[in-house]
Amino acid sequence: MPATQRFDSIWLGADVATLRQGQYGMIKDGAVAVAKGRIAWVGPRADLPASPGAARHDFGGGVITPGFIDCHTHLVFGGNRSLEFEQRLQGVSYADIAAAGGGILSTVNATRGAGEEELLATAEARLSMLMAEGVTCIEIKSGYGLTLDDEIKMLRVARRIGQKYPIQVRTTFLAAHALPPEYRGRADEYIDVVCERWIPEVAALGLADAVDGFCEHLAFSPAQIARVFAAARRAGLPVKLHAEQLSSLGGSALAARWQALSADHLEYATEDDARAMASSGTVAVLLPGACYMLRETQLPPVALFRRHGVPMALASDINPGTSPACSLRLMINMGCTLFRLTPEEALAGVTLNAARALGLGDTLGSLETGKLADFVHWPVKHPAELAYWLGGQMPVTVVYRGERRR
Ligand code: NIG
Ligand code: FE
Repeated sequence: MPATQRFDSIWLGADVATLRQGQYGMIKDGAVAVAKGRIAWVGPRADLPASPGAARHDFGGGVITPGFIDCHTHLVFGGNRSLEFEQRLQGVSYADIAAAGGGILSTVNATRGAGEEELLATAEARLSMLMAEGVTCIEIKSGYGLTLDDEIKMLRVARRIGQKYPIQVRTTFLAAHALPPEYRGRADEYIDVVCERWIPEVAALGLADAVDGFCEHLAFSPAQIARVFAAARRAGLPVKLHAEQLSSLGGSALAARWQALSADHLEYATEDDARAMASSGTVAVLLPGACYMLRETQLPPVALFRRHGVPMALASDINPGTSPACSLRLMINMGCTLFRLTPEEALAGVTLNAARALGLGDTLGSLETGKLADFVHWPVKHPAELAYWLGGQMPVTVVYRGERRR
């Protein structure tokens, strides 16, 4: 005779992919019970404890997964760069466009020129597409303002999104994204200002949950990024890094030395980088949208990450330059087809490992007792279908903290 427990709601009639330890962890004909916004019980429906008074939701088939987590986005930005895309298709490289003052800096101009309301409205349009496919937590970076006020404007928009929608938002301060034009030829001075004034200020305002940088020839050197990391540590903020996207500079090993939550992109990462990341528990965040849009032929060393036990996440990297990707599910497919992840690894990449990449592995990313009750019901027979279908919308039910919102 099953015991009695107090649940607020019970969700059943579907198979449950728990993603415990990053594996499907399938429970056939399972049930998820929620109390006070957290998972209070998960297991086979037949073992469900009695809970008089709990609201029962019967899905009548399908699969329940943890809510999807998009752990690397530049969701807030002004304008777009479709004309640069045309140039790139004609053979002009991303680096050449950046060197000519386009690229990130063209979005910096558009973002500086946009007011907070306009940035919010354009970000919301993109957000709605992600939320419609089961994203319940999103990271949003600054990095297109590059003045303290404009960076704060971007972070405020990100925080407002978290207040206005049920989705959980984590913000990342990315002032070390590109050298602003007013500091041309004075990169070290810019980094001084970012470290000495901006990071402490943004931290004091409570606007950032982490600090990020872009370690690349066309952005900042490992020595400059190390100074940014030191300032982040003084401000009590964890770090992440855009590393090894276009060349191998040792950014991911540097990130690992600073116990970074994640190193992201990683097309040019080496075995030494993988070893360093494994020993610091730094998550490899893979961004197939950017790799695809840049028609990059060098692929991130997934087999090395797997061999050395580096947790792998997948994210949209939604941004106007390299990844105008409004679908995390499409990234799951591309993670499999382009990067050779298994559908199971790809699903772990947008759930448990994405949570770890945001420092939220204890509260999100898998369906386990005590974690937040963010989950999605999918009209599929097996979770591999989430990797198989090439985009398109599915009629999903999204549950945030135990409340059905869609
Ligand atoms: O993650 N690599 C640097 N940052 C972005 C691209 C930014 C841009 O081109 O606007 C990325 O791909
Ligand atoms: Fe990025």
